[in-house]
Amino acid sequence: MNFKTLIARTLPAALVALASTTGLASAKEFRLGLITPPPHIWTVAAQAFGEDLKAETDGKHSVAVFPSRQLGNEAQMMQLLQTGALDMAFLTIAEVSNRVPDFGAFYAPYMADDVAHAGRILRSDEAKAMLADLPQKAGVVGIGYSMAGLRQIVSRDPVTSAADLAGKKLRITPFEPIKDFYNAVGAASTPMPLPAVYDALANGQVDAIDMDAELIWKLKYYEHADTVLISNHMMFPMVGLVSARVWKDLSPEERETITRLMARHLDGAIDTYISKEADWLLAVEGTGTNIVEADASFFQDAIAQWEAIWSEKAPALATLRKVADETRQ
Ligand code: BEZ
Repeated sequence: MNFKTLIARTLPAALVALASTTGLASAKEFRLGLITPPPHIWTVAAQAFGEDLKAETDGKHSVAVFPSRQLGNEAQMMQLLQTGALDMAFLTIAEVSNRVPDFGAFYAPYMADDVAHAGRILRSDEAKAMLADLPQKAGVVGIGYSMAGLRQIVSRDPVTSAADLAGKKLRITPFEPIKDFYNAVGAASTPMPLPAVYDALANGQVDAIDMDAELIWKLKYYEHADTVLISNHMMFPMVGLVSARVWKDLSPEERETITRLMARHLDGAIDTYISKEADWLLAVEGTGTNIVEADASFFQDAIAQWEAIWSEKAPALATLRKVADETRQ
């Protein structure tokens, strides 16, 4: 089964299995959901976390990983976490920011100079401190961050300036900070989950997509593009979560073990993106696709509009900008 087929699959039966289980505190097999398909770096990290947990607890605890939205989209998985019907999830910060707007600060355009800088921001004490709000505001415990590198734009038509994106139907992951960015650019933001993106770009349902380097390369989005705009305009963080209801019934030792092992694999995925992102983009360039490079000046007006909206909505923006300045190399 290829990568594209895998992300298009859903397994409603898995939801039925969830509905019939209770007593998560004593569960030996934790269930972890995520939207990415089995070969994706996030899913591989989730599997590796489960293997480590099993080894370290001598088989007492294990993790069943449900990839490819088998348990629903991220909003649905967040609800399952809140009720305790799902134990764990690796979710984009996008979904978290829909519920706790302060997390929208991570999407400040051009806050990170490059993917390694994004890693340093996510590893900062200030970023970690933001996780403390999650139990109270979202009913989940945030274990640590990961990411999917920086965002780029794949366009069916040539793009040489931000004006070329005005009026274009542009696929976004469904969340507010990115919608505000593209609205400021003048594009028609078109929220769309990952499995729908390839066909939508191929058949012209959208003119362009907002995407990361890994998937532009591995899912071959460039096949339907005139231009790949290497804009690096935003980071795309992920967070490892445990249901607060499940967490409260875990012993201190179980909490320590889960935190340490999950954080290790989340962090390891950050290193993977740092080491591979340039190679994925070079591989796309090697296909003969037109590559255009853009920096903050390309989106200058849109950035100012975005900042005006999000400095109000996300007080953490000032803190993260300071962190970004202090970790700039
Ligand atoms: C996306 O919606 O573009 C996306 C979601 C999860 C991982 C990578 C990309």
